[in-house]
Amino acid sequence: MAIQVLEERVFILNGKGFSYVIYLSEEGIPLNAYWGAGITHPEDFLDAAFIREAFHIPSPQLWPEEYAPFGGLRYKETAVKAVFSDGVRDLLLIFDRWELREDVLCIILRDESEPLEAALCYRVQEELGILERWCELQNTGDKSFTLEHCASAQFSLPGTGFQSINYTGRWSGEFQQKNTPVSCGKQVYESLCGLTGHQCAPFFAVHRGVNEEHGPVWFGVLSHSGNFEITVEDVCAQKVNIVAGISDTDFTWILGAGERFETPHVLAGYAEGLGAMSRMLHRFAREVQLPKPLAQKPLPVLYNSWYATEFSVTQEQQMALAERAAQLGVELFVMDDGWFSGRVDSTAGLGDWAADSEKFPQGLHPLIRRVKELGMDFGLWVEPEMVNPDSALYRAHPDWILRYPNRDPIQFRSQYMLDMGSPLVNEHLYHVLNELLCQYDITYLKWDMNRYVAEMGSTLCSEENGKSLWYRHTMGVYELAERLRRAHPALELEACASGGGRVDFGAMRYFDEFWPSDNTDPLDRLSIQRHYSLLYPVKCMRAWVTDDTNFNNRVVPLEFALHTAMCGALGIGTNLSKAAPVTLDLLRKNIAVYKDIREIVQLGDLYRLSSFENSPIQVVQYQLEGHSVLFAFLRGGQYGRRFYACFPRGLDPERLYRCRTGEVILQKRGDYLMYHGLTLELYGDWSSVIVQLDTIEVQEH
Ligand code: DGJ
Repeated sequence: MAIQVLEERVFILNGKGFSYVIYLSEEGIPLNAYWGAGITHPEDFLDAAFIREAFHIPSPQLWPEEYAPFGGLRYKETAVKAVFSDGVRDLLLIFDRWELREDVLCIILRDESEPLEAALCYRVQEELGILERWCELQNTGDKSFTLEHCASAQFSLPGTGFQSINYTGRWSGEFQQKNTPVSCGKQVYESLCGLTGHQCAPFFAVHRGVNEEHGPVWFGVLSHSGNFEITVEDVCAQKVNIVAGISDTDFTWILGAGERFETPHVLAGYAEGLGAMSRMLHRFAREVQLPKPLAQKPLPVLYNSWYATEFSVTQEQQMALAERAAQLGVELFVMDDGWFSGRVDSTAGLGDWAADSEKFPQGLHPLIRRVKELGMDFGLWVEPEMVNPDSALYRAHPDWILRYPNRDPIQFRSQYMLDMGSPLVNEHLYHVLNELLCQYDITYLKWDMNRYVAEMGSTLCSEENGKSLWYRHTMGVYELAERLRRAHPALELEACASGGGRVDFGAMRYFDEFWPSDNTDPLDRLSIQRHYSLLYPVKCMRAWVTDDTNFNNRVVPLEFALHTAMCGALGIGTNLSKAAPVTLDLLRKNIAVYKDIREIVQLGDLYRLSSFENSPIQVVQYQLEGHSVLFAFLRGGQYGRRFYACFPRGLDPERLYRCRTGEVILQKRGDYLMYHGLTLELYGDWSSVIVQLDTIEVQEH
């Protein structure tokens, strides 16, 4: 049973592979009694013992609270803080009642004298092994008050020796996974950029020693694309305190009489090994989070013109690229930045979402018609949140940007940020983009976002609501994406933010795919893609092949680059007009191979078998029902060494598999392949192979 309640004081949440137990203390405080592998006898928790007192340490500091309020004798990171009309800034949240709202367990807490009610919400995605948590804060009084902090969830783990995983990163160097001991004080993973950002990600993963296959890991991802704050704190008495939610830096939310604020959700889980954690999150993404129309379907192979043309877009050149793309088997032709009014370079045009009349004298119709005749769908680049000072939109509405009225606004990449939280601005953007989608046969939009937020002020927002703008901006982005999707249900949306600046489980509810990095150098990319996959499914990871020296001046054979990109949702960014016949031939062949295997790659379970971090070969495997695909990469060959063992996972031990690498075919049972291993032949620098494993029936003689 997913939710059990014992004696009105012990709440047990069970999902595949885990149990989560909440215990009501005598004071009426919900405490975490247990989180880990599934337990069989919940009644053992009826007399769960807690450290109640320690010499000179106030009890609340030691309680493993489910949602600690700021107030009383608490000095650890707390989950909620409010300022009331009578000046009180302390909260004492005590159990009031519990309710089942359909499949959601709500434990409702109330302050003893202030009008705040907090519903701690828990939903178990039983089969997926994911516990969804959030909090609904309600003003039950007749005067407004101010929320200064409202996390989504708090977690507590007993013991010492924990380590914590997150990313560090930057533009073109996103998703670099790091592991640090949780030894003293707080570790804060935070974004104050107004979006997820490149520096770290909204999640926690704590463990006491874990690798791909072994070791318990407790994790949670925040489903939110704006400012966030994840705190992992070593509190005294051998406990780790974890708080996850929107950042409270420069944040307040005024809760009027009777109003409610629902925090973003946290998707938490417990797994054995990082590989299992990733697979759980990937499944959750595919089955619950991603927009339905495309979540269970493989994404098309796209061509994107950015690296070929940058801003110098013309109709003829786009048509020429489209001709070649179609011959290769591309299914979606995307014209990137540079197509709209006045867009000669990065300094002009943003905000004016109509085709540039010099570049496209008859609008986009001739190009789109040609792309369609060639059998491809058509997609466009937009950056809805932005405006250049040199644009008709800015000249008409200089007051629509985020800025403080009496100060010169800061430009970044020659652009300002629109106040997306304002209904007026949002409505305008909806009108313009909807118009574009109605006017032309556009199947896909790449929604870019190329500057971080600063000066979160607005002339369109009331002064007292100023500190809510960070949150409102993110909600404005979601709302616009949602409205466009509703009006155009077949629309495919990609989120890009100077590469991977807006990759998260919140954006995943509105965007079908992400651009993880502008860096397409295969070696850098293999590391970025591997670490990206720690949380995010390759189903929604766009990966392009571009001209070989675009990054690092490193010349890598095209096949190696292609195989790297085929590990995700394949895209081509090569300048096809300049490409040699041999290049076109290789692209065509590999696109055909990719189409055969993409269902397994995009919808299968991912196993990271080995990595360049600790092996000469990096191998990744995708497994779907009776089929597996492996990509193996050797960066630097070694004289006299040609054969490398690899150990596929997740096969049926008793079934017979046909293993194919090019011409070489082998038949072995699943147990042989997994335990004895598969020998891969890789030779010389930049060598790569694809291995396909398919179950076959045993022939009786
Ligand atoms: C940044 C993106 O990451 C690139 O892929 C490209 O779309 C440019 N913006 C266009 O300005």
